[in-house]
Amino acid sequence: MKIDYIRPVFDKTTPRFYIETYGCQMNVNDSEVVASIMQKAGYSITKELNDSDIILINTCSIRENAEQRVWGRLDVFRQEKKKRPEVRVALIGCMAERLKDKLLENQVVDIVVGPDAYRDLPKLLAETESGQKGINVLLSREETYSDISPVRLDKNGVTAFVSIMRGCNNVCAFCVVPFTRGTERSRSPQTIVGEVEELRDKGYKEVTLLGQNVDSYLWKPENLNFAQLLEQVALAVPQMRVRFSTSHPKDMSDEVLVTMARHANICNYIHLPVQSGSTEVLKRMNRKYTREEYLERIKKIREIIPDCGISTDIIAGFCGETIEDHKATLSLMATAAYDFAYMFNYSERPNTKAARHFADDVPEHEKTERLNEIIALQNRLSLESHRNELGKTVEVLAEAYSKRSDKDLCGRTAQNKMVIFPRKNYRIGDTVLVKIVSCTSATLKGEALD
Ligand code: SAH
Ligand code: SF4
Ligand code: F3S
Repeated sequence: MKIDYIRPVFDKTTPRFYIETYGCQMNVNDSEVVASIMQKAGYSITKELNDSDIILINTCSIRENAEQRVWGRLDVFRQEKKKRPEVRVALIGCMAERLKDKLLENQVVDIVVGPDAYRDLPKLLAETESGQKGINVLLSREETYSDISPVRLDKNGVTAFVSIMRGCNNVCAFCVVPFTRGTERSRSPQTIVGEVEELRDKGYKEVTLLGQNVDSYLWKPENLNFAQLLEQVALAVPQMRVRFSTSHPKDMSDEVLVTMARHANICNYIHLPVQSGSTEVLKRMNRKYTREEYLERIKKIREIIPDCGISTDIIAGFCGETIEDHKATLSLMATAAYDFAYMFNYSERPNTKAARHFADDVPEHEKTERLNEIIALQNRLSLESHRNELGKTVEVLAEAYSKRSDKDLCGRTAQNKMVIFPRKNYRIGDTVLVKIVSCTSATLKGEALD
């Protein structure tokens, strides 16, 4: 029996779905694509787990603990199903692709759908009506969901993600993404620009173009590369901010940097994951650049875009990493003077090159010790980077109320630095000139100029 009394009468016939997302920005954007597919199929969205007929969980496999969190959530969904046995659970995304039908052994999971099979969700859901379980984890060489207009779930109405490609053709030894997302394919520039213009028309102020390796974007019919796409987008929406992520050090071209310098609305910010500062480790990681080549890229960025914000990703304790390798990472960080970093302990992922060829031989406590040193150094570098902003006037796009108080707004500078300032008469979506008066390693604080 369905418990219908909690629903408004007019909505009685519309089944509802609830969606939770883990993992990277691409997954966030995928959930928006999924929401669009579900709405077209006649489902409506709810923010309440206990008000849903269908629970979707969009998962991540990047590290062991990302998967652990999902297992934890499945326990919660099990409780929900105990209360309301008619609820169905669909596990989608990277974990679906990695573990496939093994997931169906878990009683709480009704449907398993991989990242390239989301169009099949409504059909699979319909099949579960008769108590069947369903699975589609086929990867595709073509699917880019380019005709689907994502339903924006994060409703700030100011910033949005647009995927420009899917999959990844690199084989970084530690990484599960090529297995979960399949081969790389680029989306047509027409549909990308169309989606960005649609966002502009809805009042959005900033767009982030997404891909695992944006520099290898290539639209073959027109031989259009990433720098050219970036330029097209920047020209199409001159009043919007344009960002992108992620750049790969082996592929990031001077042409991209020059394009950034040429267009004021392309934010001066680059996320350039280094992973390690040791050429030996980089080689084992199969990253295809040396420490020196990476630092040369940093130098070039600073040359062409002097005020560019730069962030990175770092892995502590990869297979065979010595203390000298670790020290090389610390010294590279100091030289690069990163504004921000995402930092992780190495987590072995089944079937990756590293899992097959190298021993995960840095003890856990040692990884954590190295990670803590990396984090401590980055905190100092971030503080330094923020101190350099003191007394300056910066342009901030207000994205939200500050977490602490709705009397304050928060938003980011072009360099991606978070700024908090008293709201006065400004509103979310305004671009505000803010004079920076104080800082921590995490945020800048300032006063809006009238
Ligand atoms: N495409 C991006 C990275 C995507 S994954 C790039 O090439 O840089 C995001 C980050 O997760 C990676 O940059 C890496 O730092 C981290 N990561 C990936 N696999 C990992 C693993 N097995 N253990 C720890 N961190 C990992
Ligand atoms: Fe993973 Fe490397 Fe591809 Fe990034 S470039 S998604 S780290 S394989
Ligand atoms: Fe995770 Fe998949 Fe993204 S493994 S980081 S959600 S591409």
